[in-house]
Amino acid sequence: MDINCTKEERLILERIAQVAKSLQMPCYLIGGFVRDKLLGRNSKDADIVCLGDGIILAEAVAASFSPKLNVSFFKNFGTAQFKLPNGFEVEFVGARKESYVAHSRKPEVQNGSLVDDQNRRDFTINAMAISLCPSDYGTLIDPFNGINDLELKIIRTPLDADITFSDDPLRMMRAIRFATQLNFVIEAETLAAIKSNKERLKIISQERITDELNKIIAAKTPSIGLDLLYQTGLLEIFFPQMVTLAGVEIIEGKGHKDNFYHTLQVLDNVAYRSNNLWLRWAAILHDIAKPATKRFEQGHGWTFHGHDALGKKMCTTIFRQLKLPLNEHLKYVGKLVALHLRPISLSKEEITDSAMRRLLFDAGEDLEDLMMLCESDITSKNKLKVRHFLENFELVKQRLKIVEEKDKIRNWQPPIDGADVMRIFKLPPSREVGFIKTAVREAILDGIIPNEYDAAYQYMIEKAAEMGFEPVV
Ligand code: CTP
Repeated sequence: MDINCTKEERLILERIAQVAKSLQMPCYLIGGFVRDKLLGRNSKDADIVCLGDGIILAEAVAASFSPKLNVSFFKNFGTAQFKLPNGFEVEFVGARKESYVAHSRKPEVQNGSLVDDQNRRDFTINAMAISLCPSDYGTLIDPFNGINDLELKIIRTPLDADITFSDDPLRMMRAIRFATQLNFVIEAETLAAIKSNKERLKIISQERITDELNKIIAAKTPSIGLDLLYQTGLLEIFFPQMVTLAGVEIIEGKGHKDNFYHTLQVLDNVAYRSNNLWLRWAAILHDIAKPATKRFEQGHGWTFHGHDALGKKMCTTIFRQLKLPLNEHLKYVGKLVALHLRPISLSKEEITDSAMRRLLFDAGEDLEDLMMLCESDITSKNKLKVRHFLENFELVKQRLKIVEEKDKIRNWQPPIDGADVMRIFKLPPSREVGFIKTAVREAILDGIIPNEYDAAYQYMIEKAAEMGFEPVV
């Protein structure tokens, strides 16, 4: 078998084979490395399965390096791994036969043959092995014809799909993740088994589900996976808010667009423009509050007033529910969701400099990302309409650039801050201080006064006087 290995990969595989031979322990390359090499993709790690103790083999291979490599092992699972200086990881495990109990992902494990080990794997394309034994070094051992499924671009379980998924329900997410990453099709019986076993996903931790979900979102065309998650019923189980986006309601002959498929289109559009996972999350969540804010107004049609502000709030709930990080990533996604209508609205009406300044100030360093999201949000089927919008949008971008060059509003600090107000009026930290400070900032953004200290000072004195405060210095 000639697979496309780098020189470093060849050397480490030969070394493993040598050490295994000296221990008289048959061993095989298996899983993702074999799959990815046959597909001509790069791999960052390799799995080795051996007929014997994987920890002993890992230790012996690590000891053949000078200095010896550090081995980390998980005694409970019988696995051991080390990292080469170039970052490539190798994991060792003894061949296993597994049987699962209904309420858990944790299998009961016994030693097994290579075929036993291949039987317990998730998909035919992940069950292929390549021998590292002296007698048949390099031979592909492929009992389920995974190579054929690779060529036909099919995801299929080696055994009965119901058993494979019921044993380890995370594999349902993995099936959809591989279909998305590799642009493969899930074979009919395997797909049907996902639908009928969907409830089993509830025994999987949210962290693991979200890990797979993020891999789907990070793929080239994430809509493939999200649509499969929806069609199989898995999405309903862990992310019901997204499912409620689906469907069209018609009143008085007027329908609105299907916000689920619109969202998938926006997500693909964003994915085409950027690899930023969090910008992709902003695309997923930009219209998430549309179902909750939907109204039919007589004579006017469908409205979704306030879905931007409510959407921002929902981001926090959803991040918490999906165990996504509640840090600056949440802040960023919430901000983009809250602002996603602003640039589009600027392209529709007569644009004032103050509206531009306000957007520059509110979006700050995330302006480019916001503009990318908004451009991606234009998904009308009417080509002429799209072109018209995009042209107007170009104008908005140019105006923003001119206003920014003139006024330098992004990352801008107003000339008077809260500390100045407290010092000048000898006030303690209080609501009044916040009010005066904000009034000055708003007046500059609205163009009522220029962005200069003297004008800001004068305006502050007037505002404070209205509230009964006199400067002390
Ligand atoms: N595996 C499995 N069931 C799982 C997880 C893994 O059968 N729930 C098996 C598959 O044979 C898989 C191998 O373990 O190929 C290694 O798993 P992992 O490293 O998680 O995935 P890879 O297939 O290597 O793919 P990737 O690196 O893209 O995650």
